Amino acid sequence: MTDTAEILASPAPAVADGGRPLAVVTGGTGGIGRRVVELLAGAGYRVTVLSRQGAMAGAMAGAGFADDMPVTLRACDLGRAESIAAASSAILAQDGPVSLLVHCAGVIHPGDSAAQGADELAAQVAVNLTGPIDLTARLLGRMQRGGHVVFVNSMAGALPLAGCGAYTAAKFGLRGYAMCLAREVRKQGIRVSSVFPAAVDTPMLRREMAEGGSVLNFVSAPADPDHVARRIVRICRHPRRETFLPAMDGLFANLCLLLPRLLDLALPVLTLAGRLGYRRFVRRGGGR
Ligand SMILES: NC(=O)c1ccc[n+]([C@@H]2O[C@H](COP(=O)([O-])OP(=O)(O)OC[C@H]3O[C@@H](n4cnc5c(N)ncnc54)[C@H](OP(=O)(O)O)[C@@H]3O)[C@@H](O)[C@H]2O)c1
Repeated sequence: MTDTAEILASPAPAVADGGRPLAVVTGGTGGIGRRVVELLAGAGYRVTVLSRQGAMAGAMAGAGFADDMPVTLRACDLGRAESIAAASSAILAQDGPVSLLVHCAGVIHPGDSAAQGADELAAQVAVNLTGPIDLTARLLGRMQRGGHVVFVNSMAGALPLAGCGAYTAAKFGLRGYAMCLAREVRKQGIRVSSVFPAAVDTPMLRREMAEGGSVLNFVSAPADPDHVARRIVRICRHPRRETFLPAMDGLFANLCLLLPRLLDLALPVLTLAGRLGYRRFVRRGGGR
């Protein structure tokens, strides 16, 4: 069965009042997240999207959502605790209990540790780690049995790469948090999943490369955001603790954690493959 057929064939879980269950999605205006929102809406969810653009006039159209979609846009800056508190209160008061929480917001500022600016460091830790933890804590208390929390992590959450230390640290931390949370909420019937994509062709990747990101993103061709979004939504419907996209890259990353020398040995070959891959990407119009 294709991903689309599978998503639509298993409708969203019913909620007590028989209406559409509520999914809350951060990063729902981004390259991967927007497609996740569209697929969840198509699969029978009401979706609340948290975005810094939420309070702007015309934000729905600006984010690419039609007015007749079951989507509500709410203002939330994951870098500001008071903004997370206000968004959570509004969700619980006006949208109802959360069935599915998808953390898809993310930000990366590549650069050597000695050159890392304080603002870039704070943003990466807040958006990729502390913001998702805070938001989860605020919504979890009202999540019912059958609820599901999904973290869109990154291959950087398992593979330590020089030149993006703050992002890597935040994503490693997010993996640890998800592992703890899964154990905490198991008895309440709430599931926790993490998805670890390799490079995906989105505005984030293009900004990252414009700021001097790693050519290792291009060892394989960057994935299509639609493909990654479908895999994420499939996991929303069929919870799995950890999913690496592609699976082979995850196997390699986890092996490198066991045997750190393996990464040292493989790095020259990976760097060469990445350089060639990046050249191909730019030639085909990527990086613009
Ligand atoms: N692209 C890749 O190569 C890649 C690879 C592996 C993992 N990932 C992960 O996949 C997820 C989605 O990435 P993407 O490529 O779709 O990124 P993207 O297109 O750059 O979108 C980033 C999203 O994050 C949101 N965001 C950024 N800062 C925020 C803040 N302070 N408060 C609230 N929201 C904020 C943005 O929302 P607003 O601007 O509307 O607020 C936007 O929706 C991220 O977690 C990323 O780490 C991406």
